Amino acid sequence: MSSAASAALPRARVDMPMDETRSAAVAPPVGAPAESARRRAGAPILVVENVSLRFGGVQALQDISFAVREHEILSIIGPNGAGKSSMLNCINGVYAPQQGSIALCGEALRRPNPHKVARMGVGRTFQNLALFGGMTVLQNIMAGRNFRMKCGIALQALRLGPANREEVAHREVVERIIDFLEIQPWRHTTVDRLPYGLQKRVDLGRALAMQPRLLLLDEPMAGMNVEEKQDMCRFVLDVNDEFGTTVVLIEHDMGVVMDISDRVVVLDYGRKIADGPPQEVRGNQDVLRAYLGAAAAARGD
Ligand SMILES: Nc1ncnc2c1ncn2[C@@H]1O[C@H](COP(=O)(O)OP(=O)(O)OP(=O)(O)O)[C@@H](O)[C@H]1O
Ligand SMILES: [Mg+2]
Repeated sequence: MSSAASAALPRARVDMPMDETRSAAVAPPVGAPAESARRRAGAPILVVENVSLRFGGVQALQDISFAVREHEILSIIGPNGAGKSSMLNCINGVYAPQQGSIALCGEALRRPNPHKVARMGVGRTFQNLALFGGMTVLQNIMAGRNFRMKCGIALQALRLGPANREEVAHREVVERIIDFLEIQPWRHTTVDRLPYGLQKRVDLGRALAMQPRLLLLDEPMAGMNVEEKQDMCRFVLDVNDEFGTTVVLIEHDMGVVMDISDRVVVLDYGRKIADGPPQEVRGNQDVLRAYLGAAAAARGD
């Protein structure tokens, strides 16, 4: 990690890996859906092999390999600047790694192409919200359907038969998502008037509108209060459990990670230092060192 990146360390939840008490932020969500998802874990849906990514002199990722099985919730954790978002950006075709390969459902991603990756069934939320602030909740979630629309702009603008029928079908999907995320009261509210926690929920809705098989979530709970985190945890678990959606989650809150993950991959300075079930990873000496190092840096030791 660069010194510039380590300067940003205080935001990392450096104290959490050793915290025995489950964080109040994630009081048990309804039932135990992570358990049932784990039972259903299937064949690998995403295979990352020996991926390395460099930005000039910065080695963001170095020789990273891991696989995600269908229906799993896999968390990627690590201190600030560890390469977590870069990893998601490689998976969804925003960045092209200089080395290594990524395969989705057995198909190798040869060139970076986010639209193709979306069509292959990958939905994504971003660390910094990717919403249209001046548009309503409904319009933002509808935007997530755009890549599935078959009728051209001309037919849509004229509201001719096929375009009308298509719009009705897309609206039905969007309305179901709005119900699922319990955001009906705000469906006609412009997004920039919503509190941050609800905006994050709308961003999840936009990603769900793509009806993804694989959902990539980059810090979906960052900046949320306890109640908002509980809600978001519940939605992530429900998406996984009810729809069987595979989830790759980046999260700094170790309470959340320990509660909802089937498996955890830990990155530090662009390298993978651990990969395993949450209980195993939390006791891993390299992981403790990475976080203790981060804690010391945050204190200015
Ligand atoms: N587009 C870019 N151009 C240059 N450097 C980049 C770019 N994106 C990321 N980096 C660098 O790559 C490294 C990994 O960054 P990345 O954003 O993947 O980390 P992260 O683990 O997501 O951190 P955080 O927890 O702060 O979000 C950092 O040193 C960062 O400065
Ligand atoms: Mg990041």
